[in-house]
Amino acid sequence: MTVERVFVAGAGLMGHGIAQVHAAIGKAVTVYEPELTRAEAGVARIAGNLERAVAKGKLAPEAREATLARLAATADIAAAADADLVVEAVFEDVEVKTGLWAALDPIAPVHAVFASNTSSIAIDRLAGAVSAPRRERFVGMHFFSPVPVMPLIELIRGTATSDETEAVVRTLAAELGKQVIVSADRPGFIVNRILMPFLAEAMRAYEEGLGTAEDIDTGAKVGLNHPMGPLELADFIGLDVCLGIMRVLQEGFGQPHFAPPRVLEELVAAGHLGQKTGRGFHAYPRG
Ligand code: CAA
Repeated sequence: MTVERVFVAGAGLMGHGIAQVHAAIGKAVTVYEPELTRAEAGVARIAGNLERAVAKGKLAPEAREATLARLAATADIAAAADADLVVEAVFEDVEVKTGLWAALDPIAPVHAVFASNTSSIAIDRLAGAVSAPRRERFVGMHFFSPVPVMPLIELIRGTATSDETEAVVRTLAAELGKQVIVSADRPGFIVNRILMPFLAEAMRAYEEGLGTAEDIDTGAKVGLNHPMGPLELADFIGLDVCLGIMRVLQEGFGQPHFAPPRVLEELVAAGHLGQKTGRGFHAYPRG
């Protein structure tokens, strides 16, 4: 099966990036959000990314136009009816994700592959939301942010995922120019299992006054050659997203190093979610 038409549910940080990279390689992409303005905002964000690439001389204006012409925004879930691939990139919450998959199951064609961009929730748990025959075409396809830049996809097979479904994802990843790693279906998969304890430890260090947020980040950037410090990276990913992933890890493994730090709980409760709200461990002046 070749993927020509892609339905992306969720137009946030991950969803808009996933839509962008598929449209850029020639797929017809529909971006879905229950509110049309949010779907349109996702497409506008893609237009902004492409515009910056054109301004830098890295993308021809014709390629920008062609990519944008392959994108549509919708608030109508019935638009999944002609999809070969449905990618779900909505909030990291089991109820939200399973509710969406259950709604998509009767709409999407029988042949369509269902790929969740979940960063931590078990694929078998999500696949339980769809009818039994669909489960062989249900798979984890985890992208990294910024999606147009990060060349990795984590592929997670559930118990029922077929070899053919894995092959579809591998072929698509090759078309997207992304490398695939395969993770067992365990909380956090490979990357977040490694990343989240690192971010949590940096948050605990900050909480106990070991150093300023700037110095903790500079330690990782200059001392470890990381492109971003752990607190800056957490702000970039979204503190609510980090909290959700840490909770899944804590629930799954029950070990203290996976527990969300108090400062993270407090920032999220106060609505300081990182870059997207203008404040997290650092401040991000608007504009
Ligand atoms: N969208 C598209 N392109 C972007 C971008 C975005 N949001 N942000 C940066 N870029 C592009 C720039 O346009 C630039 O492209 P060119 O080289 O072609 O000009 C390139 O990325 C480098 O950007 P900058 O020079 O502006 O900035 P930088 O060198 O500081 O790099 C960065 C920015 C790529 C984000 C870098 O800081 C980085 O790699 N950070 C770490 C990112 C990371 O760890 N991501 C994984 C997060 S975990 C996750 O996503 C999974 C999960 O489940 C939580």
